[in-house]
Amino acid sequence: MPKAPIDVKPDWWRGAVIYQIYPRSFQDSTDSGSGDLAGITRRLDHVASLGVDAIWISPFFTSPLADMGYDVSDFCAVDPSFGTMADFDALLAKAHALGLRVIIDQAFSLSSDQHPWFSESRRSRDNAKSDWYVWADPKPDGSPPNNWLSAFGGPAWEWDGLRRQYYLHNLLIQQPDLNFHNPAVQEAVLEIVRFWLDRGVDGFRLSVCNYYFHDRKLRSNPPHPVDNNRKLPANPYGMQLHLHDKSQPESLGYLKRLRLLLDQYSSRISIGEIIAEERTLEVVSDYTGGGDKLHMSYTFDLLSSDGTPTQIASAIERFEAAVPEGWVCWSLSNHDVPRHLTRWLRPGEDPTRVAKLAATLLMSLRGSICFYQGEELGLEQSEIPFEKMQDPRGIRFWSADEGRDGCRTPMPWEAEAEHAGFSTVEPWLPLDARHAERAVDQQGAPGTVLDHYRRMLAFRKAHPALVTGDIQVLEGSGDLLAFDRIDGTSRLRMVFNTGRDTFVYRLPETARLLALPGFPDVSAETGHLKMPPRSAACCQID
Ligand code: NOJ
Repeated sequence: MPKAPIDVKPDWWRGAVIYQIYPRSFQDSTDSGSGDLAGITRRLDHVASLGVDAIWISPFFTSPLADMGYDVSDFCAVDPSFGTMADFDALLAKAHALGLRVIIDQAFSLSSDQHPWFSESRRSRDNAKSDWYVWADPKPDGSPPNNWLSAFGGPAWEWDGLRRQYYLHNLLIQQPDLNFHNPAVQEAVLEIVRFWLDRGVDGFRLSVCNYYFHDRKLRSNPPHPVDNNRKLPANPYGMQLHLHDKSQPESLGYLKRLRLLLDQYSSRISIGEIIAEERTLEVVSDYTGGGDKLHMSYTFDLLSSDGTPTQIASAIERFEAAVPEGWVCWSLSNHDVPRHLTRWLRPGEDPTRVAKLAATLLMSLRGSICFYQGEELGLEQSEIPFEKMQDPRGIRFWSADEGRDGCRTPMPWEAEAEHAGFSTVEPWLPLDARHAERAVDQQGAPGTVLDHYRRMLAFRKAHPALVTGDIQVLEGSGDLLAFDRIDGTSRLRMVFNTGRDTFVYRLPETARLLALPGFPDVSAETGHLKMPPRSAACCQID
């Protein structure tokens, strides 16, 4: 593979395409059944062949793996199950040589309960780290200090018998929240960021970055004004308005400090994961506006969509209206949600066609784009039996919630190899037999999903209007989605038929159909487009 230069533009991230790697399931290089950093390095040529700008690697830091690595016990070290720091340096060097930037994923709102900081903090109320976590006395009746709930179920407070106080955990009991009100914690986190910047990483995905600060007064959240007849949810977390446990105003000042640090290095970026229920767009606007905080936010709007034009048009329009100055990173799938092909497919449909339609739509959006390993193969969600489950959320809420293991299964590389080339031994999660048929070595020829991803990425790159142009939604109802991408005087019209019937879409007489990959059966005559079921078209409008 020829050496590709790294794009040196400081705003390389605007409109960039990022490939998400879930390291435990990408490639095993040690016959352990679990993926690792050297495995990623070995497979980077595949990633580079797609034409993406960057990779985002989910956490590989030292961790007891209670939340699959999002519970970190040393933010500056590689967990032995993923390899060594030398393996990371080699990965970084190879990625850069291939023209790929590397974004790491840090969960700073919390640490593992096995982190030495927490071991020290819980020992007494007056040690050097005593205020590094969120500790609170019980109410006189012994119950927790307020009504906050954990996003993973149950109260957000856990009693610690040694310290004789409760500690806050917005997520698992094994994930105590760091106290960002403490300046020493703020400094310690900036130190970690500096460590990785000096090592050469190009950016950070900041896991739940709106969870950094909590209300200092520990005020209880009000109930969510839900319909009384509503069926109770599997997890009562959604029954509160999360006014006080996260998304606090102090975040803005801290994100500015973080940005100042990033800006001391050349073209490094931050992508904040923001989970703020009904206030998400407001928080995204606050965190990404002004050019002095996050570069962009990673949001969940399309991660739950089933691909209907109404949903997609409304997600775009709500974002454009609420966040005029900010920048978003769109995704259809990741390691936390069921794969989008399974969400979008209707009985009897051709998965290849639907995968291509979804990819075309994703690559046409305004914003940066992130897609998830295996998406380029058209993988569907796997079904994991309870006894094989690893995800703590899935185990806790079984069977009301299928959990997240079904999108975290191993990548299939070679259809005929043992465990599809992922590992020589039984993988940590079962490899889906349907996935082996869609392995990388089975695809790449014209007509395959993999070929479509490569061509569609090249098409996006070749049309600046798709990378950084404005967006104007024209239609979003029934089976029709249409929007324009506008760059100066160039206007591209993207039209999608998401339904089962052919329709005719009216165009200006001067419109010209461009050779969008994947849908040769779309035809154009003066003034209209004939769109077969599940198809996409792109026209130049003069
Ligand atoms: C965000 C990550 O994407 C998810 O996988 C994890 O469970 C939560 N943070 C909590 O740690």
